Amino acid sequence: MSEPVILFENVSKYYPLYHPMTGGVKNFLFNLPRAVHLIKNSKFEAVRNISFEVYRGETYGIIGRNGSGKSTTLGLMAGVLKPSKGKVVINGRISPLLELGGGFHPELTGRENILLNGVLLGLTRAEVFAKMDEIIDFSEIRDFIDQPIRVYSSGMLARLGFSVVASLDPEILLIDEILAVGDINFQKKCLERMMAFKKRGVTIVFVSHSMEDIIRICDRVAWIEDRRIKKEGQPLEVVEAYLQTG
Ligand SMILES: Nc1ncnc2c1ncn2[C@@H]1O[C@H](COP(=O)(O)OP(=O)(O)OP(=O)(O)O)[C@@H](O)[C@H]1O
Ligand SMILES: [Mg+2]
Repeated sequence: MSEPVILFENVSKYYPLYHPMTGGVKNFLFNLPRAVHLIKNSKFEAVRNISFEVYRGETYGIIGRNGSGKSTTLGLMAGVLKPSKGKVVINGRISPLLELGGGFHPELTGRENILLNGVLLGLTRAEVFAKMDEIIDFSEIRDFIDQPIRVYSSGMLARLGFSVVASLDPEILLIDEILAVGDINFQKKCLERMMAFKKRGVTIVFVSHSMEDIIRICDRVAWIEDRRIKKEGQPLEVVEAYLQTG
């Protein structure tokens, strides 16, 4: 196998946990130092001590139940989250397409959000303008492109997000769950574009609840359960094991 482009070494991620004020507000204020200490030190572990590698050119799937830590893992790859423990190493330019609408500004129009996202993803303004028509064509939402995106449906937002990323020249593509809200035509188009990236040697990490898509495009799959990687390997084997647990 070639070199790893993504390396997780004993990575844990904690989120702060919000404590309910069981004793009421008065009690909370009366015992303020203790309450503050409690809040500061309460944490929820979303990912526990996970280690894995993704190799150059590989399409790596991540599956698992709601809340099992998939988006957290992708956020750590994208650098929007920092590991609480352990080490994350990325060798290459990351193009993340994270959860719906992340990175979009609701009051800006579709066109303005394309510009914003293109620049955030490392293009110059001129480069985004040069690609603007291609991006809008791919999204197929030209009629709405000059409307603020707060009026977009979730599928339209997904179209906008995927279209920006699809027009880039990514080295490492992170895709979280974006296909689920797209209609059949758009899903097909996204999968075709991902296949084309794959052929060109782009490394892809793909989070999905569609086992069919996972089996179709992934070379290797990790199943995350209870904060850890429960099984990693051939897509069919991992998906079967996952489905058997009901
Ligand atoms: N910002 C946050 N603050 C606190 N807890 C969080 C935060 N984000 C996620 N969590 C918790 O971390 C755990 C893992 O969440 P994550 O979003 O990674 O799950 P997921 O596998 O992507 O789930 P889904 O399939 O629903 O997208 C969940 O229990 C969630 O409640
Ligand atoms: Mg998620």
